[in-house]
Amino acid sequence: MSLDDRIPNNVDLSSDRRLQKALEQWQPKFQEWWMDMGPEGFQAKDVYLRTATSVERDGWATFDYVKMPDYRWGIFLTPEEPGRPVGFGDMIDQPSFEEVPGEFRNSLRRLIVTQGDTEPASVEQQRLLGQTCPSLYDLRNLFQVNVEEGRHLWAMVYLLHRYFGRDGREEGDELLARRSGNADKPRILEAFNQPINDWLSFFCFTMLVDRDGKYQLAALAESGFSPLRRTTQFMLTEEAHHLFVGETGLGRVIRRSAQLRRESDGQEAKVGGIPLETIQRYITHWYSYALDLFGSEISSNAADFFSSGLKGRYHEASKYSEHSAKDQFQEIPIIENGRVTMKQVPLRNAMNEVLREEYIRDTERAVRNWNKIIKEENVNFEILLPHRRFHRHQGEYAGHGFTFDGSPLPDAASYQAELAKTLPTARDREIVQSVMTPVTKPGQMAHWIAPPTKGINDQALDFEYVRLN
Ligand SMILES: [Fe+2]
Ligand SMILES: [Fe+2]
Repeated sequence: MSLDDRIPNNVDLSSDRRLQKALEQWQPKFQEWWMDMGPEGFQAKDVYLRTATSVERDGWATFDYVKMPDYRWGIFLTPEEPGRPVGFGDMIDQPSFEEVPGEFRNSLRRLIVTQGDTEPASVEQQRLLGQTCPSLYDLRNLFQVNVEEGRHLWAMVYLLHRYFGRDGREEGDELLARRSGNADKPRILEAFNQPINDWLSFFCFTMLVDRDGKYQLAALAESGFSPLRRTTQFMLTEEAHHLFVGETGLGRVIRRSAQLRRESDGQEAKVGGIPLETIQRYITHWYSYALDLFGSEISSNAADFFSSGLKGRYHEASKYSEHSAKDQFQEIPIIENGRVTMKQVPLRNAMNEVLREEYIRDTERAVRNWNKIIKEENVNFEILLPHRRFHRHQGEYAGHGFTFDGSPLPDAASYQAELAKTLPTARDREIVQSVMTPVTKPGQMAHWIAPPTKGINDQALDFEYVRLN
């Protein structure tokens, strides 16, 4: 572990002078991007952050006050498991790839660039949120997520520089040139061009969109390309905190809204809360965009990634006993003449859908927990997830109108009416914006959100997580 190098790393960077030089040339560009596009207004503040200092399962993180531009972004791969072979696909049981197999070079590069693009994109989307934080605890969590997305960008840029030569270095520069929501140079995926202007959106995003990231990374953490497997494995340990921020953040908003609903006889907005119906519509919006991120239900790309041993299923090694996925089929509902019809699809071509199903199950679990919170507060309301066909922009269901429950709609007008009822309205956004006033006294919480159950790293809730003075 070289923690004191200009670029902290555990990949023995100093033994490869050319690579080290190339990355050291990219580093100031990254720092410039961070100053331009990172959290606005807090770059000079001390933030209580964890920094990766080891890849061991226990205690990989060191907590201390850090100014974000001084964060030690580095390159960390989990240790190689000696002799681990390719775990699935056509090359099963052959030695893992240490270099990029020539025939997969383009598709693998695209995979890494697409993943890499989401990391700086989310930092850009969230850059103004600090100004309306509900507490110092939440402010610190936002910044922790932001610096770690920066590190994930480093993880992907390392792979591009190390394994893709000049093309890779050019892609590394492009990752800093695109901008979330920019008309000329947008980020690659649509969910990463949506603005995140309020904390309800932030919690929805970390709950639902970072969770897509978890499943994508987990599928890559099974990869037969060893450097990709080892880097995504370490990213997953950081990602877990982002998901925690989203899931518990939404849980706290839901609890507070339920309390205010009870106390105000269903008039949450009148007493400074966010109506549960508004929260429902925000979740519906972000969930439908997150489902798109898994790609088409039927995909020859997905089949190629699986057969080449590059991208497996969720927990491929531990969950499945059969790893070829050959001569097996999955039923996928498709739309034919305006009707939902079942189609038998070779399992390998359905891998996006297989991964999406894992995600849906996990999200349903979180929703059950939120509904328990609402029950505990003695309020009669249930959060629901829309059907996977609803409001989709990618895949089999894009361009077709479905109800929230997934039934086909006969025409554009009825679909528009369905969207108007189920997606956030101008009034919802107005209510949410109206409660976004910053709370920055240690231990205090904004009125619209319940406190967390405990602090970060066993610190008290009134700990000064960010020093603003
Ligand atoms: Fe990330
Ligand atoms: Fe994340």
